[in-house]
Amino acid sequence: MNVLNEYEGETVLITGGAGCVGSNLSRKIAELGAEKVIILDNLSSAYEWNIPQNDNIQFIKGDILDDNALKRVFKEKPGYVFHLAAHFANQNSVDNPEKDLMVNGIGILKVLQYAQLIGVKRFVYSSSGCGVYGLDSKMPFEEHDISISLHTPYQVTKLLGELYTNYFHNLYDVPVVNARFFNVFGPGEVPGKYRNVIPNFFYWSMTGNALPITGDGSETRDWTYVEDIVAGLLAMGIKEEAIGEAINLGSAKDHRVIDMANTVNELTGNEKGIRYAPRRNWDAKTKLLSSIEKAEKLLDYKPRMSFNDGLKKTYEWFVNNWDNIERSAEFDSKEPKYVKLKQMSSNKNINCLRV
Ligand SMILES: NC(=O)c1ccc[n+]([C@@H]2O[C@H](COP(=O)([O-])OP(=O)(O)OC[C@H]3O[C@@H](n4cnc5c(N)ncnc54)[C@H](O)[C@@H]3O)[C@@H](O)[C@H]2O)c1
Repeated sequence: MNVLNEYEGETVLITGGAGCVGSNLSRKIAELGAEKVIILDNLSSAYEWNIPQNDNIQFIKGDILDDNALKRVFKEKPGYVFHLAAHFANQNSVDNPEKDLMVNGIGILKVLQYAQLIGVKRFVYSSSGCGVYGLDSKMPFEEHDISISLHTPYQVTKLLGELYTNYFHNLYDVPVVNARFFNVFGPGEVPGKYRNVIPNFFYWSMTGNALPITGDGSETRDWTYVEDIVAGLLAMGIKEEAIGEAINLGSAKDHRVIDMANTVNELTGNEKGIRYAPRRNWDAKTKLLSSIEKAEKLLDYKPRMSFNDGLKKTYEWFVNNWDNIERSAEFDSKEPKYVKLKQMSSNKNINCLRV
């Protein structure tokens, strides 16, 4: 993708820029010679030590719901906005549905209003493949086949975000792009109660616990390495053809949960193995797979990292940052909740694996 020097000399705003995707995107755009990368993040699910340091990166601790914070960052007239801040993710939204709607609904509305006011060159929104496709969507998921029968508040509000970006595009000509990520993993995601399965498996594995697989392990996911997501986002910021479109960013490959868990244990040398718990209804869909034909066509997108190499890189990041990770990881207890997982089966048909 030949989009890289387009960011040189530009001012770029990344909401949620301290998070997993945001920290990697901020670092990359700073390296590409942006005049300034502004990170607006309230650190609700991220940590200051994880924010990339560079002369052209400015971190502003603030909330996307706070007009003062928004005025401050939009006064800098960013040409590009990557809106990644979110209340993350499914279980968190089930536990805190109103907060989820505030951040993911009112939050994006506010950021879009400011973006429209100053006339940004591009507004890229981080939507979710597991959010907008449902049990009634055909796999591999193609962009036109979304569902309005969703199963968590997070899925509802990630779709709502797309409805808002489309509205701003249709009425005000804001050049928006909806990026639908699939199961992002890689360096930068700190494990925790509401985080994804891969960082949590590394954490449990490195602390000598059996990995809790809910189901029989034959379930598959379309795990996508964060650098591939970043490459797709950079192209979305530049390519004219992407404007007004929703585009999947996945790996278009599926991998079994059991294989992922075994690889994690092999990498860490954990001999505690795995433990099975009954499949949560969350995991009702045994497969999750993207079609990336549209991304290939419009963005020249091509995921480059193999799954196993991505896991190795993730493990390296865990080893190199272990002190910070261990201090920051927030869980209800020092062991995975094998028993409590069984009790969660009253949630119906939610299909994004998270432990
Ligand atoms: N990670 C995935 O697998 C995945 C999949 C699909 C979609 N997404 C979406 O991609 C985006 C980035 O995901 P991520 O994995 O980096 O998540 P993340 O939780 O690591 O990053 C989100 C960031 O937003 C910040 N934030 C939350 N509420 C805020 C607020 N009110 N004001 C300012 N900052 C706030 C958090 O502190 C965090 O740093 C999110 O919008 C997420 O919904 C992620």
